[in-house]
Amino acid sequence: MLLSTLLFAALVQGAPQFGGNQGFTMLRFGCAQTVIDRIDPLVNPGQAPSPHMHQIAGGDAFNITMPVTDIAKLAKCTTCGYSEDFSNYWTANVYFKARNGTYKRVPQVPNRDLFNDQYTGKTTGGFVVYYVSGGRNQVTAFKPGFRMLTGDPTNRKSANRKSQTCFRCYNAPNWGGDNAAPCQDRTLDTEHFPTKPCPGGIRSNIAYPTCWDGKNLDSPDHKSHVAYPVNGPHAFSGVGTGGACPSTHPVKIPQLMLEIVWDTSAFNNRADWPTDGSQPFVLSTGDNTGYGQHGDYVFGWEGDSLQRAMDDARGCMGASCGGLKTQQPAAGNKCVVPGRVHEERDGWMSELPGMEGMPM
Ligand SMILES: *[C@@H]1O[C@H](CO)[C@@H](O)[C@H](O)[C@H]1NC(C)=O
Ligand SMILES: *[C@@H]1O[C@H](CO)[C@@H](O)[C@H](O)[C@H]1NC(C)=O
Repeated sequence: MLLSTLLFAALVQGAPQFGGNQGFTMLRFGCAQTVIDRIDPLVNPGQAPSPHMHQIAGGDAFNITMPVTDIAKLAKCTTCGYSEDFSNYWTANVYFKARNGTYKRVPQVPNRDLFNDQYTGKTTGGFVVYYVSGGRNQVTAFKPGFRMLTGDPTNRKSANRKSQTCFRCYNAPNWGGDNAAPCQDRTLDTEHFPTKPCPGGIRSNIAYPTCWDGKNLDSPDHKSHVAYPVNGPHAFSGVGTGGACPSTHPVKIPQLMLEIVWDTSAFNNRADWPTDGSQPFVLSTGDNTGYGQHGDYVFGWEGDSLQRAMDDARGCMGASCGGLKTQQPAAGNKCVVPGRVHEERDGWMSELPGMEGMPM
């Protein structure tokens, strides 16, 4: 059986609300890194540098400021496997803090080669993006100009939102055969960074809200125009027969989720881990707990392509959904934008960019 089929089975088992006689559509595709930079057009428009570093994936319209307009019309290329998706997705980077106090960025595992059998070659860094719907007429695709943020970069303790963001510790390379649905099982996934070395890397899943107020493309905190379902935040619960939306946010939107795997293999030597027994990884926000994991999103699918895919009643996964156009990783990898802030990104650094002088 193909790995992708196994994953699909695992997800369906892990989320029974997908069942019933409704269709089920899941886009799952890799997006290479567009740039690593210290800008954030959603939270800090016009600011370069912004407070912390991100890895950005998706279209080349990514900029210091991004107008509330149809991004697909501004972009000329995308790093994503679906070539009609000019959206931008960004998340915090992860750094290793050595015993001598210096930091090094932990690279992302190129994800696409692991599951998406229709692609050959590897993405440059990046992550995997999911869009899920319960089938025909179950969700309303985002409108041009739509954007949102999930998670709180300043959070340093459990918000009991493990099913919105979670980490998994892989015991062996290539997922170690472990493809259970993310953020569901409390023994498998944690809301904080894993506390022990992970030979196969650390995976992070970020599940965005699935309910919308039906009116606003954005809100002052970039969150209040969207909401998690009434039965509580739960990855994937906004689709299918489960996950009813609150009356304030009655419109079901696709379940968007990001999946990042960091290759920690060069940093698993306990002799270089903190002497107090804590773990050495830190988000670019200065967060060594992981509770502040967050994700940003600016919608940019061309025309009605996302709606068509979400409405695909056959219950599809991967490249055949809604007749979407695809591109190979080699093409996506070429879609890079220049870094706007000029500073060290990948060497050993005495302080994290933007965190100079902060107690850590
Ligand atoms: C980015 O924004 C600047 C103005 O802030 C503009 O001059 C430039 O053309 C934009 N780049 C892209 C690729 O849109
Ligand atoms: C700090 O430790 C790292 C990892 O052991 C090493 O590669 C680096 O050269 C050290 N830097 C300094 C300034 O000692």
